[in-house]
Amino acid sequence: MQVRDSRQGYGIVSRTLHWAMALLFVLQFTSAMLHLLADESPAANMLWPWHFQVGFTLWWLVLLRGTWALLNFRNRPPHDGPGLLARAATAGHLALYGLMVIVPTLALLRAVGRGRGVQLYGIQWVGPGAEQPDLAAPANLAHGTLGWVLLSLIVGHVCFALWHGFVRRDGTLSRMWRRR
Ligand code: HEM
Repeated sequence: MQVRDSRQGYGIVSRTLHWAMALLFVLQFTSAMLHLLADESPAANMLWPWHFQVGFTLWWLVLLRGTWALLNFRNRPPHDGPGLLARAATAGHLALYGLMVIVPTLALLRAVGRGRGVQLYGIQWVGPGAEQPDLAAPANLAHGTLGWVLLSLIVGHVCFALWHGFVRRDGTLSRMWRRR
């Protein structure tokens, strides 16, 4: 079993992080959608409290994944296809990484700024303190909107991956699924 990535495919660490985060994003956007469209419904009441824990988990997972991607930077499969398409894929992946970091970071800063303390996984990470409106303001302004922008990028990413896998059949999908 290959741990690190190579020019031919992704190793087990990258693939596990990719699919674990994909599953957690399904949960995260389901809770966000219920919050927006069916707040106070039994499903929303069940899932919404998980939004904080899952969001925090996604936050540290993306930091781990970004670090791993940088460590494997020179040994990852290249983006196939004509120059413009390959550059668009690189830009799309950078935007995905950027939003995956920014969206939960804003929410965590707001949680600190509210001054009620931050308890996640049953651990008190930040104790209660004075309210800091400046920390909460960016999330009040942009957490939800940027979250929906992130969802639209993820939908685009999935569509392109399926196009590579089933129309171009160029191995792009399978190298995140199993080693080539
Ligand atoms: C990558 C992780 C996350 C994603 C993709 C995400 C996504 C979203 C989305 C799309 C909404 C809008 C729901 C609506 O329109 O009603 C939202 C709302 C919210 N999220 Fe998150 N979230 C994430 C992480 C977090 C974290 C870590 C926290 C708390 C520490 C959090 C707390 C909230 C709160 C309180 C709201 C409702 C107020 C608002 O819209 O700003 N989220 N989230």
